Amino acid sequence: MSAPRTLLGFPDWEPAALLDLVDLARDLKGGLARGHLGGRVVVLYFANPSLRTRASVEAACARLGATAVVLDAGAGGVWGLEHRDGVVMDGTAAEHVKEAARVLSRYGDAIGVRAFAGLKDWGEDRTEPLLSAFARHATVPVFSLEGSARHPLQGLADAQTILERLPDPRGQRLVLTWAPHFKPLPMAVPNSVVEAGALLGMNVVVARPDAMALDPEVLAAADALARARGGSVRETSDRQAALEGARVVYAKSWGALRHYGDWEAEKPLRAQENPRWVVRAADLERGDDPFFMHCLPVRRNLKVEDAVLDGPRSAVIQQAENRLWTAQAVLLRLLDGGVSRQGREPEGTLIA
Ligand code: CP
Repeated sequence: MSAPRTLLGFPDWEPAALLDLVDLARDLKGGLARGHLGGRVVVLYFANPSLRTRASVEAACARLGATAVVLDAGAGGVWGLEHRDGVVMDGTAAEHVKEAARVLSRYGDAIGVRAFAGLKDWGEDRTEPLLSAFARHATVPVFSLEGSARHPLQGLADAQTILERLPDPRGQRLVLTWAPHFKPLPMAVPNSVVEAGALLGMNVVVARPDAMALDPEVLAAADALARARGGSVRETSDRQAALEGARVVYAKSWGALRHYGDWEAEKPLRAQENPRWVVRAADLERGDDPFFMHCLPVRRNLKVEDAVLDGPRSAVIQQAENRLWTAQAVLLRLLDGGVSRQGREPEGTLIA
């Protein structure tokens, strides 16, 4: 199976290819497969901070014998990048992606980019403007380290975690619950969680205040994917009812689409909803022996009680560990790396 050249989000890849990534990640974790990317170079461009993504992809490169070149934008780092075509570059961005992507393609065999949502215009953010510009102009594979609309590396690690705990997740209920925060956060992770649940054929229920509905087009596409695989996707504002029968409870905060870019108008709404939506240990007791997920970082006792994060139902450290294995799988497939599996012919390019 040959992989596409870019990974900006799950919709770029066929479901079978995404499940192959998770399968490979599980085999790497279980010692049933070994990957080889010796001599390759992976450039990682971070326009925003990171702990897990940065450390896991760098560690993945090290484990595969590749070298990661990490570039941080901002003060003391690399130039800020312009992605729009035809503009007069008289702002803060000193370099255009047209040059940066082509230059970095001469140095590296793949380019990872972290570029969060601008949170001004969802119509623009949903197109992954910086990542898409990198994908257009680079001559090597480009992959997302979290974009403005999706976080595919997180979605893959989440799918791996769910499969480790629920070997047959089809038709099982995954509740993605909105959680409080004092500021609006992007929708990249919630969109990817919904898509990961759909990929696994789960019944995904997004529980959120009425004003916090996710993008209907993202949900409709995920619902179509889920239905083809024995599941469904729907939204509700009744979190207590949604939690009945939940096997997975995933917490995340995001901003209100209807106030996107007008966050002062969202403030009173957020203040009103916040106290009701903290995830507490008692909420999990409504489910069917569920486990708890969060992508991290998490603000303890603002979004989620200590008792949940420190309790026996928490899967958050397992999720974070799986970022390491899924990152290796993505790099191996994007770069046609060598994979040796017990009892099978070697795949890809075995480089000494
Ligand atoms: N979950 C996640 O992407 O973590 P970081 O923002 O720390 O990379």
